[in-house]
Amino acid sequence: MIKPLIAGNWKMHKTAGESLDFVRQLLTALGGPLDDRDVVIAPPFTALFPVAELLRGSGIGLAAQNVHDAAEGAFTGEISTRMLIDAGCSHVIIGHSERRTLFGEKNDFLNRKATAALSAGLRPIYCIGETLDEREGGRTFTVIERQVKEGLNKFNAGDIGRTVLAYEPVWAIGTGRTAAPTQAQEVHAFIRKMIEGDFGGRAAAAIPILYGGSVKPDNIDELMAQPDINGALVGGASLKVESFISIIRFKK
Ligand code: PGA
Repeated sequence: MIKPLIAGNWKMHKTAGESLDFVRQLLTALGGPLDDRDVVIAPPFTALFPVAELLRGSGIGLAAQNVHDAAEGAFTGEISTRMLIDAGCSHVIIGHSERRTLFGEKNDFLNRKATAALSAGLRPIYCIGETLDEREGGRTFTVIERQVKEGLNKFNAGDIGRTVLAYEPVWAIGTGRTAAPTQAQEVHAFIRKMIEGDFGGRAAAAIPILYGGSVKPDNIDELMAQPDINGALVGGASLKVESFISIIRFKK
């Protein structure tokens, strides 16, 4: 049984002060650690350190939204795995479609980032997903296959055991257009089969595959009822405590 994981990606929203307010409210509303599901939040870089202090002992994980693969050096504007660990991160989002489309990040670079994250002790939340053009052109599975193969290139069993995958159809992100639960399930099952082929049945049965793209309180239950959907990567609806809490409290 894979423990469900609900992750909130705040993107470029909230100052450090606003992040702390949110987390205080979240902790009060949750009233203590949850046993049957994991929660991770991904605030902007400037909020990571203070939020980590507040989250200590809460059981809630802390993710950065990006990382560079180099250990250190002349990379103006970038951040290293060591800095993220030092700030208190447990996870890092890699390959979000906004990084791929707006910042031109490609599978081989994302693979290097994921490898660096794993060797530093961070769990990558590795995002994949097709664009509308690719879906309409019947290329969804080819695109996903390539993203998974190249993204997880040279991973070993230990690496895959610490990786979280997130399927986020680009056409469903921030558009209010969710993939139908069965449509998402089809791709999740395909991804799990690929993991089985490359890393074996044990790895496939253990890897959390999250769905992302317009996840809301009113569609989370249906999504989570799908056998291969193990959680959600939530953007817009993770910015308000009430909606994020309702998603965290999805019905099993
Ligand atoms: P959304 O974003 O929930 O606002 O669609 C999801 C994501 O980009 O991770």
